[in-house]
Amino acid sequence: MTGLTIAIAKGRLQAETLNLLMRAGVGLSGETLSSRRLAVEDDSGRYRLIFVKPADVPVYVEHGIADCGIVGRDVLLESDADLLQPLSLNIGACRIVVAARSDTPARQLGMLRVATKYPRIAAGHFGARGIAVDLIQLSGSVELASVLGLADCIVDLVETGKTLQENGLSIIEVITESSARFVVNRASYQLKPEAVSQLIRSLEETIKKANEQ
Ligand code: PRP
Repeated sequence: MTGLTIAIAKGRLQAETLNLLMRAGVGLSGETLSSRRLAVEDDSGRYRLIFVKPADVPVYVEHGIADCGIVGRDVLLESDADLLQPLSLNIGACRIVVAARSDTPARQLGMLRVATKYPRIAAGHFGARGIAVDLIQLSGSVELASVLGLADCIVDLVETGKTLQENGLSIIEVITESSARFVVNRASYQLKPEAVSQLIRSLEETIKKANEQ
């Protein structure tokens, strides 16, 4: 295949990513969009899209199975993949925060228990403050850990704030902001410079237009 393979993060970012790519010239039919196929070609045959779990986007791109990908900064902060990150996209804006139930008592004894699906970000955050923590790694529904007392607080992603609110949690501290990034495999950047540059230019123009509206 002489075109580009783009890794798409399934889930939260997927709809916005496909919308952005279509506005940038990637041709996707309704049939393609509604199918459950995990690898599809666009109408022009210039792009192949593969749909993977967010945490797997850096893996596929680093190994060159995908030339490039679109994934949240939150995922990249947890990954040690060596990727180029030429472009920040104005989609998927969210924050990584420390949150807890408002009525959680301050811990008097032992280490602070922190539940998260972001162990690296959480360890970095508390480590930088010299706070020893007992990290409890979860895969999802992290808010429940605070609600049910598995942890004193959580480190998690907040987009609309609805999940925190509806589960009685409040933000204690914002650790960092996140939004989607366009990432590129180092070899693809050298071997397919025109195709990669063209897609970056189209994405930049699309973002610029959206900002002007
Ligand atoms: C993320 C995150 C929060 C929620 C925040 O979970 O971990 O639970 O979204 O979104 P909100 O601020 O808009 O309410 P996700 O939906 O990815 O599912 P998960 O709990 O299975 O990880």
